[in-house]
Amino acid sequence: MSDTFAELHARILAKTARIGIIGLGYVGLPLARAFASRGYEVLGFDIDVQKIAKLNAGHSYIKQISDTTIAEMRAVGFTATDRFDRLGEVDAILICVPTPLTESREPDLRYVINSAHAVAGQLRPGQLVVLESTTYPTTTRNVVLPILQRSEMVPGEDFFLAFSPEREDPGNATHSVNTIPKVVGGLDDNSSEVACALYAAIVPNVVRVSSPEVAEASKILENTYRAINIALVNELKVLYDRMGIDVWEVIDAAKTKPFGFQAFYPGPGLGGHCIPIDPFYLTWVARQYGMSTRFIELAGEINTGMPTYVVAKVADALNETGKPLKGSRVAILGMAYKKDIDDPRESPGFELMELLLKKGATVTYNDPHIPNLPPTRHYAHLKMESQPLTAEYLQAQDCVLIATDHSAYDYGWILAEAKLVVDTRNATKNVSENRDRLVRA
Ligand SMILES: NC(=O)c1ccc[n+]([C@@H]2O[C@H](COP(=O)([O-])OP(=O)(O)OC[C@H]3O[C@@H](n4cnc5c(N)ncnc54)[C@H](O)[C@@H]3O)[C@@H](O)[C@H]2O)c1
Repeated sequence: MSDTFAELHARILAKTARIGIIGLGYVGLPLARAFASRGYEVLGFDIDVQKIAKLNAGHSYIKQISDTTIAEMRAVGFTATDRFDRLGEVDAILICVPTPLTESREPDLRYVINSAHAVAGQLRPGQLVVLESTTYPTTTRNVVLPILQRSEMVPGEDFFLAFSPEREDPGNATHSVNTIPKVVGGLDDNSSEVACALYAAIVPNVVRVSSPEVAEASKILENTYRAINIALVNELKVLYDRMGIDVWEVIDAAKTKPFGFQAFYPGPGLGGHCIPIDPFYLTWVARQYGMSTRFIELAGEINTGMPTYVVAKVADALNETGKPLKGSRVAILGMAYKKDIDDPRESPGFELMELLLKKGATVTYNDPHIPNLPPTRHYAHLKMESQPLTAEYLQAQDCVLIATDHSAYDYGWILAEAKLVVDTRNATKNVSENRDRLVRA
């Protein structure tokens, strides 16, 4: 057993190991909280100086994490910094930076590569580096390792390297970093051992796998599985609608089967940082192996077609009331990609808004969690503020489109005040009054 391994292992168990987290976003910040709450000193690294200033002043910028939590983290030693030369101060470095797609829908690993270079510049014997960002299998070994190895230190002896995917479930209080099992795959036995010991301090169940590639591939499997199953129910929604069958009732019936079926639900399209993006990392790497990932392509095609389907349903519903979409006032309720969160990344709400505007509708929105639309790469021109949700506002609309089923909404009241409601989430399922104003899409 090497001295560096034994020392790091002992420090992790004694909770004297200092933890560095690169990327203080939706993944990195909850992770920092988890380690801080278990008594570890955490140093957070980010390139966004505004976020750093906010966090160091004791303020959160993520709805799920309160200012009180940040203040508690600060009280036990959490600090945020953009000084990457401080990476040498920590014993474990967890990389949680974005992994988006480029314009041509290929993996954009620049944030991971920049982080790896920052780590390589400070790497010292006895450090553990873990990549958490979702990516295609082989990234840890073929992209991160060569950058770290420039230091000429030996992996598994001088420093340790692993992949461990994040499994956040934003907006779901029953699942958190402290309850979700964590898959860990080290480059070698020592790396696996220290990485597993580290995560065992914050999660109830560490699942050790044989390599970083298995860990990377398992995360992409999880997200691809969701993307494909959501596409399946989205396709069935369109078919069953034509047949006059309620897809939501069908799913509720099917899910009473106690084995072999897991319920997925249709919607206005995919959203979020993960499900619409990650499967295409696999598609890209598959091409290097002479394969195409047909399920992923097909699911992508169906899911990205959903906003067009929803807008056609809005146009049909307005038509029934004698109005063309052009010139009609349409209010979108919910711009977050998922209920009860404040994250609009990749939200289908943007595409719905864009399509409705292109057809000449006057579009506004309300989202209690998103006061202003943030600038996005594809919809930078959509600058809008959330409108107050009042009876007058609802009454003034020709159509109210429920895009996200936030719990804060009173759906009975919305149906009572609006002339026409198009519901893409079955949010109105428990409302018995005024259903003649309702169209489901
Ligand atoms: N959000 C989720 O629910 C979720 C769940 C599972 C996995 N993931 C994956 O985790 C990773 C991070 O996602 P996220 O949602 O936390 O992203 P995010 O955009 O919320 O946060 C990323 C943070 O990294 C910072 N950053 C970018 N480049 C940096 C650099 N070179 N050095 C330091 N900081 C840098 C950004 O300023 C930002 O604060 C992605 O790979 C994502 O696919 C996200």
